[in-house]
Amino acid sequence: MPDNAYDPETFRALGHRAVDALADHLAQVQGGTPPVLPWREPPESLRAWPADFTRGGGADPMHLIARVLEGSHHLQHPRYVGHQCSAPLPLTALLGMVADLLNNGTAVYEMGPVSTAMERSLVQWFSGLAGYDPARAGGVLTHGGSAGNLTALLAARQASTPYDVWEEGYRAPMDLCLLASDQTHYSVRRSAQVLGLGGRNVIAVPTDERFRMRPEALEAALDEAEARGRRVLAVVGSAGSTATGAIDPLEDIAAICEARGVWFHVDGAHSGAFLVSDRLRPRLAGIGRAHSLVIDAHKMLMMPSLATAVLFRDEGHSFETFSQQASYLFDRSARQEWYNLAHRTLECTKRFLSLDLYVALQVLGTDYFARYLESRVDLASWFADAIEARPGWELAVRPEGNIVCFRAGGGGDAFQSAAREAIVREGSFHLVKTQLRGRTWLRTTLINPLTTRDDLTALMDRLDRPGTP
Ligand SMILES: Cc1ncc(COP(=O)(O)O)c(C=O)c1O
Repeated sequence: MPDNAYDPETFRALGHRAVDALADHLAQVQGGTPPVLPWREPPESLRAWPADFTRGGGADPMHLIARVLEGSHHLQHPRYVGHQCSAPLPLTALLGMVADLLNNGTAVYEMGPVSTAMERSLVQWFSGLAGYDPARAGGVLTHGGSAGNLTALLAARQASTPYDVWEEGYRAPMDLCLLASDQTHYSVRRSAQVLGLGGRNVIAVPTDERFRMRPEALEAALDEAEARGRRVLAVVGSAGSTATGAIDPLEDIAAICEARGVWFHVDGAHSGAFLVSDRLRPRLAGIGRAHSLVIDAHKMLMMPSLATAVLFRDEGHSFETFSQQASYLFDRSARQEWYNLAHRTLECTKRFLSLDLYVALQVLGTDYFARYLESRVDLASWFADAIEARPGWELAVRPEGNIVCFRAGGGGDAFQSAAREAIVREGSFHLVKTQLRGRTWLRTTLINPLTTRDDLTALMDRLDRPGTP
């Protein structure tokens, strides 16, 4: 090992150069100079990053950092309008250094006193915004929305099974099912599969013309489940859905679930962040009636991957999720300690997940986040109007958030796909596509705070260019 690997002065010198490189990169990317995605075929990328490690090492870290920056996908580019991945606040890159250096994994309190406290405060803050009673509510942060949905649904299973399914496994016959709309993110179905329900026992509830769960269809699906002697693990509502950002009628779903004593989980991975804005919060009316709720900070709160809040209206349920004990980590009698988080998560060691959001909220204030959210939703609304005004173009649905799906004029499914592929490969924009009711739609998520109307006009002009793709 080189003598200086743990030398503070070597770290200081390299750190200054690395931050300079990142700041230069940011200036270039935010100015729109490099391609959004420097497209390379997968084998070419693999050839560029071989496992050619030597016994003595000796590579220049700055050279490697420069190559990583050049070859990566540039989410800070204002013309990145693709998946629901944020252009993280640059401040969080510095906090990432802090988190990595400290390595205070949050499984037990003594391994992360600050991270544990920050996590608790964030979770209680989110709970209050959702309308939960802070004295009863609580939860955890997980590495992403998929893990978050699974964590919540594990608790739902424990609550909706009249025996200790965690210890015993399923008693025959396994009679549980899960209800979610036909627009639900695949992590919900996957959670049910991980839970041993089988994908076939996830019942898709039909949606309306705006891709929102139809309450009367939910009633019918619940009636049918009951008639067949099926127990319902949970009903999952989306806020909003992945494809279009549709927000299910949470108030109606909550009322139905309450009347039948069924667990109501809201997958708010994308639009749950709207709770931070007074103007947008009413779009989530009813969310406070859910038993559990997931919000991804790495989607609509400008955080890097990953930080998901998993909230329970009654925190006790979150301790029931994992009743397994690891006696060398914590004392069995102390199950309800909020500060030993591994009681309640899939993970043992976690990253310092709370640091970025906690510090960013302290530094920038909640209004900053509210204005960001509102600006992206307003831009989506403007974009929808512009699409509707273009001859031959089609809008899938008026956006309820910042996701806009459309078809450019000029051709059918094959045209839309080919145009997208050409644009992604040339690196002028990054957008994605989705299938809705059997047709191919171009899909944009207006998540980058730097994306403007001019960028979107340029995208439309590019798609209207004679001879597109
Ligand atoms: C609605 C919804 N739920 C859950 C997820 C999964 O979140 P993650 O990618 O953080 O695992 C996504 C991801 O796009 C999503 O859109």
